[in-house]
Amino acid sequence: MTDKLSLPDESLMLSTDFIYGVATASFQIEGGANDRLPCIWDTFCNTKGKVIDGSNGLVACDHFNLWQQDIELIDSLGVDAYRLSISWPRVIKETGELNQEGVNYYLAILDRLQAKNIKAFVTLYHWDLPQYLEDDGGWLNRETAYRFADYVNLISKAFAGKVYSYATLNEPFCSAFLGYEVGIHAPGIVGKQYGKKAAHHLLLAHGLAMQVLTKNSPNSLNGIVLNFTPCYPESDSQADKKATDFADDYFNQWYIKPLFDGVYPDILSELPQDHHPEIFASDMEIISHKLDYLGVNFYTRAIYKADEKERFIQIPPPEPTTDIGWEIYPKALTELLVSLNSKYSLPPVYITENGAAIDDEIIDGKVYDAKRIGYYNDHLNAMNDAIEQGVDIRGYFAWSLMDNFEWAEGYLKRFGIVYVDYDSQVRTIKESGHAYKNLISNRNINK
Ligand code: FCB
Repeated sequence: MTDKLSLPDESLMLSTDFIYGVATASFQIEGGANDRLPCIWDTFCNTKGKVIDGSNGLVACDHFNLWQQDIELIDSLGVDAYRLSISWPRVIKETGELNQEGVNYYLAILDRLQAKNIKAFVTLYHWDLPQYLEDDGGWLNRETAYRFADYVNLISKAFAGKVYSYATLNEPFCSAFLGYEVGIHAPGIVGKQYGKKAAHHLLLAHGLAMQVLTKNSPNSLNGIVLNFTPCYPESDSQADKKATDFADDYFNQWYIKPLFDGVYPDILSELPQDHHPEIFASDMEIISHKLDYLGVNFYTRAIYKADEKERFIQIPPPEPTTDIGWEIYPKALTELLVSLNSKYSLPPVYITENGAAIDDEIIDGKVYDAKRIGYYNDHLNAMNDAIEQGVDIRGYFAWSLMDNFEWAEGYLKRFGIVYVDYDSQVRTIKESGHAYKNLISNRNINK
């Protein structure tokens, strides 16, 4: 196993123009819950049996208080960029007005990043919907899309000149499917008839927010972050291939095709009528607003086989897997990027999340996470292969800066390149963090 991250000498990813960053999300790291309104994840955490270890986001990594030292930490890694998300319930009051205290918290962070020459990649929605909006129907209510645009309007004015890049949404698939169809994420609603309705309102929210950002923040890179779990058939049989294509349309293409082609995948017509979203006349035009970039989150692939009743079923992931049970299959990243590039006319792409959960241990003050280094090395090289095959990829973000609240898994899964001791809140850079730092600092100037 390797303890180093290395790319071919001629790789464009060794140019200093290529952006390397680390990523986090508000609910997963901040805590400081008394200084904001409740969100759907607070409610979900308070519902017995939803989060495996019964934990919540009340303190998390206490980044709300420790943000200054955390920015020092980010800086010490030598990264070019930091991807963070804004907690909507921290910056907007129930009246819809800005909560200036919450805004000031982020302004201080953005100023500090700017002073250190670290580019801020700001995600406007990483799943922490204000609970009062959920009480009115959440993403099943079309109005929520307009409330999102209002929030984006106010916050993008308040942040003027401080943000390098905005992402409207993080992974609308997770919000819609996990949150409103299978219910394993907040708000925990279950029903096949809900997922695509929530998805449509999320995508509408994205399109409306793009209009706002284009007006208020024309100089930032404005786009969206989608997650992809590429689908592979278990066998070469026609039935398995057909089932897999269906799954791919349902889980992956559903969220990207409307952005570039202004339509949902054809399988829409095969879904029962009561699963269909209500699409107003100008919706698809709004949703397909031009993007400055596409953010791609990638962790793993999924293998499917045909099933008479369910159409497709996923087979258990083969080894090797990470600590969260996700198969390690870097080739899927290359194949995904190449195939998206041939299907759609893509803007520049950033890999906005990639990383591995490993069962880390601190030994003598160090975390020897060789498996994570191997994961990063293989995925960085898989990306490089995609670049060589013509995909315009401009940057890469490790998920995550530090261990944090991993949603329904609570604090049990560690994704950080920095270890967090949740009792003492002490951070320790893992060997993967050192390897990442070395890769970044060894880039060739002006290549
Ligand atoms: C992604 C989420 C991110 C993190 C990783 C492991 O789906 O965007 O917040 O939890 O998975």
